[in-house]
Amino acid sequence: MRLADFPRYPLTFGPSPIHPLDRLTAHLGGATIWAKREDVNSGLAYGGNKTRKLEYIVPDAIASGADTLVSIGGYQSNHTRQVAAVAAKIGMKAVLVQEKWVDWPDSVNDRVGNIMLSRIMGAEVRLDPAGFGIGIKSSWQQALDDVADRGGKAYGIPAGASEHRLGGLGFANWSYEVKQQERELGIFFDTIVVCSVTGSTHAGMIAGFAGQDRPRRVIGIDASAQIDETREQVARIARNTAALIGLDRQLRDDEITVLEGWAGDLYGIPVQSTLDAIRLTGSLEGVIIDPVYEGKSMAGLIDLVTSGEIPKDSTVLYAHLGGQPALNAYSALFTS
Ligand SMILES: Cc1ncc(COP(=O)(O)O)c(C=O)c1O
Repeated sequence: MRLADFPRYPLTFGPSPIHPLDRLTAHLGGATIWAKREDVNSGLAYGGNKTRKLEYIVPDAIASGADTLVSIGGYQSNHTRQVAAVAAKIGMKAVLVQEKWVDWPDSVNDRVGNIMLSRIMGAEVRLDPAGFGIGIKSSWQQALDDVADRGGKAYGIPAGASEHRLGGLGFANWSYEVKQQERELGIFFDTIVVCSVTGSTHAGMIAGFAGQDRPRRVIGIDASAQIDETREQVARIARNTAALIGLDRQLRDDEITVLEGWAGDLYGIPVQSTLDAIRLTGSLEGVIIDPVYEGKSMAGLIDLVTSGEIPKDSTVLYAHLGGQPALNAYSALFTS
């Protein structure tokens, strides 16, 4: 099968915008930097990368006869917020297991930002004390069982929509969209920089670009602080997605690049380079990024451009994957 053979339920406005970051480029004095904006890709609760993944998962959910989407994430999960929005849009219910993935002391961490938006959109939000990265969760099974006990039919969507057979398709499609936009703009992005945690965003891009004629670097920046797991997930999902969309060769190891160095010690806890990247991007470009994901990938981009690891003559596309609602739970970091 080819990507175009998979049913896609449109949830986005269409191609997400691409624009140059001129002042950031001048400030860093290296490669030319552009951004592609998944944070404004949809009218559904501020959109983001999961909205694109869900475009390929919703047809399967509808075909299954489900009436309830069940998903899981941290208290400030962007993913579960997007599941809640999509459930509302397609007339399904949503049950969201929200775990304490981040030991973050903000007193309203479980009330503002993403979790508040999910409640507003009518999702059933279940707080659970489990931490980040623990295997099969009893809370997840309980949520699925409860939907069945009530006479409903659940459709489970794993964390980040990554461990789902179709989870990589949204960003394989993104890679074709980039190619089309490049044609329109008369430009070629030789380097893509993207944040990677559950893996299917980066993996989908790798699979999609691998089938195109001009090679480019697709650099993932780990924000999970669990580099081995992230690498394993990205590699496995990229290979599965490539097979699914009919890539006629195996992906090489050198096509799968996940870099560490900007996640700090823990998922969800920003470090100084994260905060510097957030303030720099905000003050130079008026572009807002978050302390969990994009602040870390932007910190990576800044260092790679400044050090010349991404060469001066490169044209870089920074994938802005959304996530700003979580900023509300991090207000203590920005009091001046
Ligand atoms: C804003 C944002 N950026 C990046 C990511 C990482 O994407 P993925 O989980 O597909 O690796 C996520 C979700 O986990 C996210 O919500």
